[in-house]
Amino acid sequence: MTIKKICGIGAGYVGGPTCSVIAMMCPDIRVTVVDKSKEKIAQWNSEKLPIYEPGLDVVVEKCRGKNLFFSTDIEAAIKEADLIFISVNTPTKTFGIGKGRAADLKYVENTARMIADVATSDKIVVEKSTVPVRAAESIMHILRANHKPGVSYQILSNPEFLAEGTAIDNLMNPDRVLIGGEDSPQGREAVEKLCKIYENWIKRDKIFTTNTWSSELSKLAANAFLAQRISSINSLSAVCEATGADVTEVARAVGLDSRIGPKFLQASVGFGGSCFQKDLLNLVYICECLNLPEVAAYWQQVIDMNEYQKSRFSTKVIESLFNTVTDKRITMLGFAFKKNTGDTRESPAISVAKNLLDEGAVLHIYDPKVEESQIIDNLSAFDVDNIKNRVNIYHDAYSATKNTHAIVLCTEWDEFIELDYERIYSEMTKPAYIFDGRKILDHEKLRKIGFIVQTIGKRVSRITVSRTWGSPTQM
Ligand SMILES: NC(=O)c1ccc[n+]([C@@H]2O[C@H](COP(=O)([O-])OP(=O)(O)OC[C@H]3O[C@@H](n4cnc5c(N)ncnc54)[C@H](O)[C@@H]3O)[C@@H](O)[C@H]2O)c1
Repeated sequence: MTIKKICGIGAGYVGGPTCSVIAMMCPDIRVTVVDKSKEKIAQWNSEKLPIYEPGLDVVVEKCRGKNLFFSTDIEAAIKEADLIFISVNTPTKTFGIGKGRAADLKYVENTARMIADVATSDKIVVEKSTVPVRAAESIMHILRANHKPGVSYQILSNPEFLAEGTAIDNLMNPDRVLIGGEDSPQGREAVEKLCKIYENWIKRDKIFTTNTWSSELSKLAANAFLAQRISSINSLSAVCEATGADVTEVARAVGLDSRIGPKFLQASVGFGGSCFQKDLLNLVYICECLNLPEVAAYWQQVIDMNEYQKSRFSTKVIESLFNTVTDKRITMLGFAFKKNTGDTRESPAISVAKNLLDEGAVLHIYDPKVEESQIIDNLSAFDVDNIKNRVNIYHDAYSATKNTHAIVLCTEWDEFIELDYERIYSEMTKPAYIFDGRKILDHEKLRKIGFIVQTIGKRVSRITVSRTWGSPTQM
């Protein structure tokens, strides 16, 4: 049996782009992406896709209605598929045992139960969601305990390594594809079938096959290493600010060591996104459950450092604005957790906004791709007084900055580099401040325009407040 029909369960940031690229690269395979959210599926079938991802619209346009389909008929898609990708969400548990740390596997489990209920022919079930080590074992238990006579299953682990904002390129040219499977003739056969799908566009030497548990753990490990690099450089950014060293220079000097390399060494307001924190928390929880407290504490520190960085940045903003932001208008440029995505999950901008709102600030927020309702939703989760009057969303950077006291840059969108800062300065309340949480702006130029500039890991403007209240100068 070669794979002719694929069902992708979960039409989110992973399931949507992954299945779309598979459809584009495998024209002989019929790919149906299903989701329980009618609204999301309607968007996938419309001109405005539910997620922003550069290049995704072109891929979808090319295949939709030919060999790529988006549907809410989950049962039909499961029934006809030879291979099923599970790409549902695995958020951090918010209740019960492991609350705040363990991955909540209820969506994965529901999916497995539904497959068992519906399937009438053999299936290869592929775990694409990020899961704790040995989750495949639970899926296998559920499927084998509920299987219909004559129906057999193989479970594979095939974690996804795409990064939002570059998902299409990552899927087209991955560093590696990882496939874990059971060490049995049937297991190896299933692994081979999945390899064959990827081999339509990826060279065999980039497809790495392992045992199932190594594959599951490798995904958590990769995210832990990436997050650790960010926390490492961010920890040094605090040392730089205290000593006069420049974290960009330090990062460059360190990254030139070929054993270390330059990637993921950019200091910032902190990491965000749906994965790093969730997967680290999950790893910490697993280590605790395995009675490995020292290992758990080691990885926990990566998360703690990220929290420290976000709050350190917010504190810097408040302290620089004379220790009070009450009723001050502050512009937030960027709300997404990074550029080229509209995703705000765990965005550092949310923490910064909350800290500023707690101190009484009035926020003017602009992000090129995040919907207004998303920002309000994120901030409404906090108990903030009078949020309607204190959070204003704008559709361009110039309106957002007009008459504000300070700009806080939280997302590294390219368009923020190109703004006319002379114009912005002329329309702001003076003294006008910029806090560059992503280190993307030309600080010297901004200083010359008149801004008081603060960034991460470098002293740009040293502020002295003269005895006459309210007339700071920068040196
Ligand atoms: N977002 C990323 O950058 C990324 C990268 C690599 C791996 N991952 C992992 O991939 C998984 C999915 O992440 P995501 O960002 O795509 O999540 P998402 O929230 O964007 O999408 C998950 C989708 O699954 C759907 N779903 C949940 N239960 C369902 C069910 N029983 N039947 C049908 N649909 C169901 C939800 O409605 C949702 O649309 C997670 O485990 C995540 O850790 C994410």
